[in-house]
Amino acid sequence: MPSGQPGYQVPMVKVVDSCAARPGGHVVFEGVALSRGGRPVFDGLSLTLEERRIGLIGNNGSGKSTLLRLIAGLVQPDAGQVRVGGADVARERPNTGFLFQNPDHQILFPTVGEEVAFGLTARGIDQKTADARSEALLASNGCAGWEKRAVHELSEGQKQLVCLIAVLSPDPDLLLLDEPFSSLDLPTRYDLSHRLDALDQTIIMASHDLELLADFDRVLWLEAGRVRGDGPADSVIGAYRAHVRAGLDKARSA
Ligand SMILES: Nc1ncnc2c1ncn2[C@@H]1O[C@H](COP(=O)(O)OP(=O)(O)O)[C@@H](O)[C@H]1O
Ligand SMILES: [Mg+2]
Repeated sequence: MPSGQPGYQVPMVKVVDSCAARPGGHVVFEGVALSRGGRPVFDGLSLTLEERRIGLIGNNGSGKSTLLRLIAGLVQPDAGQVRVGGADVARERPNTGFLFQNPDHQILFPTVGEEVAFGLTARGIDQKTADARSEALLASNGCAGWEKRAVHELSEGQKQLVCLIAVLSPDPDLLLLDEPFSSLDLPTRYDLSHRLDALDQTIIMASHDLELLADFDRVLWLEAGRVRGDGPADSVIGAYRAHVRAGLDKARSA
């Protein structure tokens, strides 16, 4: 069946060991069904995600954010199970970091230091240790001395960087990124993307910026809550682009 046809599955390449994720970041969906607002979003979705870098693509409303929320345990399936690192997320909140599109929806505290330290104190680490660790984490990310800076005075890119540092502070096994770059300019996108490259965490990232996913180990193309394409980044992104172009051509000639 040619690329772009319904049900097309891009063949998976053998995943090499260098692409292996931390076991704590392995994700399994087993027959997951979920309705939101009275309409089904997923209806029996089964998936195993074990690669280090996984991209999620697809039109608005295809289910990317809901998939990420299910993995983080922020929403629970109506049926089926989501496991992260072998544990059912309905029973055990997984050690994931979630980065949202809009940093203003994420940031809770007025200063950078409080925001970064909170990721640690929320996990039972005492304030003094948390402050020392967040200071070190900020310094190692080129933000030395930012602790007292007011978050509202930062640029969008700086806010998103602070959010990234904050979600990394408890050393999660898995980072879930929901279009984190969409409001950032190109240099900031490249800078954050470069920082993400260097992390050893598993990353699952929803993005409309297909270029940023080009080096990912695996890309899933979602359409109306189903996996329309699944495989190496270049094949799946190519099939998605071809599908979108074909849809536009058809609409123009109608
Ligand atoms: N809180 C919600 N209430 C009602 N419907 C929702 C909610 N969240 C998502 N949906 C619906 O679920 C579907 C998938 O949405 P979403 O996961 O946000 O897609 P994407 O991130 O790919 O744009 C859409 O039809 C959307 O309208
Ligand atoms: Mg979304």
